[in-house]
Amino acid sequence: MWELQCLQIEKDSMIDITKIRNDFPILSREVYGKPLVYLDNAATTQKPKCVVDKIEQMYYTLNANIHRGVHFLSQQATDEHEAARVTIQKFIGAKSSDEIVFTRGATESINLIASTYCRAFCQPGDEIIVSAMEHHSNIVPWQLQEEISGVKLRVIPINDAGELLIEEFKKLINPRTKLVSVTHISNALGTVNDIEEIIRIAHENNVPVLIDAAQSVQHVALDVQKLDCDFLVFSAHKAYGPTGIGILYGKEEWLNKLPPYHGGGEMIASVSFEKTTFNVLPFKFEAGTPDFVGSTSMAAALDYISDIGLDNIAAYEDELLAYATEQLLTIDGLKIYGTAANKCSVVSFLVKDIHHYDMGMLLDKMGIAVRTGHHCTQPLMDRLKVDGTVRASFSFYNTKEEIDQLVAGIERVASMF
Ligand code: ALA
Repeated sequence: MWELQCLQIEKDSMIDITKIRNDFPILSREVYGKPLVYLDNAATTQKPKCVVDKIEQMYYTLNANIHRGVHFLSQQATDEHEAARVTIQKFIGAKSSDEIVFTRGATESINLIASTYCRAFCQPGDEIIVSAMEHHSNIVPWQLQEEISGVKLRVIPINDAGELLIEEFKKLINPRTKLVSVTHISNALGTVNDIEEIIRIAHENNVPVLIDAAQSVQHVALDVQKLDCDFLVFSAHKAYGPTGIGILYGKEEWLNKLPPYHGGGEMIASVSFEKTTFNVLPFKFEAGTPDFVGSTSMAAALDYISDIGLDNIAAYEDELLAYATEQLLTIDGLKIYGTAANKCSVVSFLVKDIHHYDMGMLLDKMGIAVRTGHHCTQPLMDRLKVDGTVRASFSFYNTKEEIDQLVAGIERVASMF
């Protein structure tokens, strides 16, 4: 049945793998004299030529500080930066480009909300709900607020497959619950959470929801209006874009109610030593010179993804995940961590008692890049009673042949121990 499904997907696949791999020059390089097999896409994705070309174009032909100059270059760079904001707005289905705030990435976006939301709306003893599978970036900002604002963190537990226990989530909600902040897809396990249901339950209780889409925006089509999430964050570098930039989406009514985060130029309407007033959305949250090279090359990455089509990407990556899971399970003593019914293209595993670090290092010598360790999810690793795993994460530019190489590599490592 599974094979039949795969064959069907392969037949229907709209992924032109040869063309796509040619778009990513790094994929044809060698490491240690061996062809690179890059399976660390959940940490960061590689960049297509169009993204690097955009960075070059911006610096070579359009470099000027934006929103500030009357001169030609400044105005053209400003136009490109604001057009990028509209591209991002459309990509996630936001109502207005004013709801798209540029940040340094998902981490900074969550810190922004943790800081401003707790300042504006939380009293000591109020509660924020996260889940047991959160990245440290969706735990620590709230823990900082535990000290600053006196809020308390509550945690949705998971089952052994790595799925959220929705009934337990319902029990956590109470009149002191002020916000739910959960990941859409687990970076460590690949679990796809039922965020529609989480948002529905939270809203029934008048609690807003922040979705960490750092691991989902590049795999599945998102529509923030349909989802009805209140905030959503992601980083460009995990979605084929540049490092150092990402976004915070927030419903306009929420963003208008929140106080500013960083102070500086750009985010003000007027400044005097007596009184400073703040700029309108989204600039209120964008202190300092905007990263217009980042924004425009991020938009180029999202256009690239859109051209391939997120549905085609999801179908192909699902096929890679199914193939990898089946092949990895043929290895004697290999255990997969994260066996949720709904998973994305991430496989975390350990083989017998071989340390994840040894496995990762030896695979690396064969040209195979995987991630090892706790994946910035130490509480999750504690729950799974391991100190880390080996993680292979797939992109639409990976192939079944690369998965075969991974499997052969793991078998070789296992035979050394
Ligand atoms: N958060 C990134 C990962 O999952 C770095 O690898």
